[in-house]
Amino acid sequence: MDIRVFEDNAELDVAAARLMADLVKSKPNAVLGLATGSTPIGVYRSLIDAAAKDGISFSSVTTFNLDEYVGLTPDNDQSYAYYMNQHLFSKIDIPLNQTHLPDGMTSDLEAFCQKYDAMLEDAKVDLQLLGLGHNGHIGFNEPAAELSAGTHVITLDEATREANARFFSSIDEVPTKAVTMGVGSILKAERILLVVRGADKASIVRRALTGPVTTDCPASLLQLHARVTVLLDKDAASLLATGGKEGCSNFASAM
Ligand code: F6R
Repeated sequence: MDIRVFEDNAELDVAAARLMADLVKSKPNAVLGLATGSTPIGVYRSLIDAAAKDGISFSSVTTFNLDEYVGLTPDNDQSYAYYMNQHLFSKIDIPLNQTHLPDGMTSDLEAFCQKYDAMLEDAKVDLQLLGLGHNGHIGFNEPAAELSAGTHVITLDEATREANARFFSSIDEVPTKAVTMGVGSILKAERILLVVRGADKASIVRRALTGPVTTDCPASLLQLHARVTVLLDKDAASLLATGGKEGCSNFASAM
């Protein structure tokens, strides 16, 4: 794993955006796997800036998002479809028909999951952006004795609903279910970019990157992937420095 630690959050955003922008520059028809949540907001802002500054076009790019809540329409301001339009798609030149998110409103979720997997299989994601949940989830693959490889419907952990309640007016409004890419689909990406910030994620960062590979911490499966870049702020990295760096073959400080 290529792990880089940043003193400054804005620099972290720029570095993450740079990886994505460079990919699109060198491969204009790149396939990007995208994430939502608070972590990528600054990354998308920097990507929009980089695109404008360097004249990078997304007109041939295809995107697939990791997940979507079940029961929220795309015009609901808490849906991930709304988030993606707000934070990225409306600000770059990507045709919306080349952007894909799981459909949390379909009457046949199972058929949709199969269709999404077939599309992912055909498209082959070049770079998958990931955030990290406090419980080690990636996408909405929550810790469990068994994990699904493909896209599936998941019942969100109470801890995840509580963490995401900050975006809703009350926890009761946070959906109980979501559709998420599976860990198998995530691990099929050519390259993975994991971005994590904050002291509250320091212990799960250490577990995910240096602990045993276990379905109890889905992000630990990233240790099995050959090309993972991890960008951390210094708070998220704080327990790596003291907690041993086993498994981190390339630990660099960008501070
Ligand atoms: C979002 C996603 C989740 C988040 C994770 C961290 O599409 O798949 O895994 O990346 O819950 O969320 P934030 O960034 O809000 O801390």
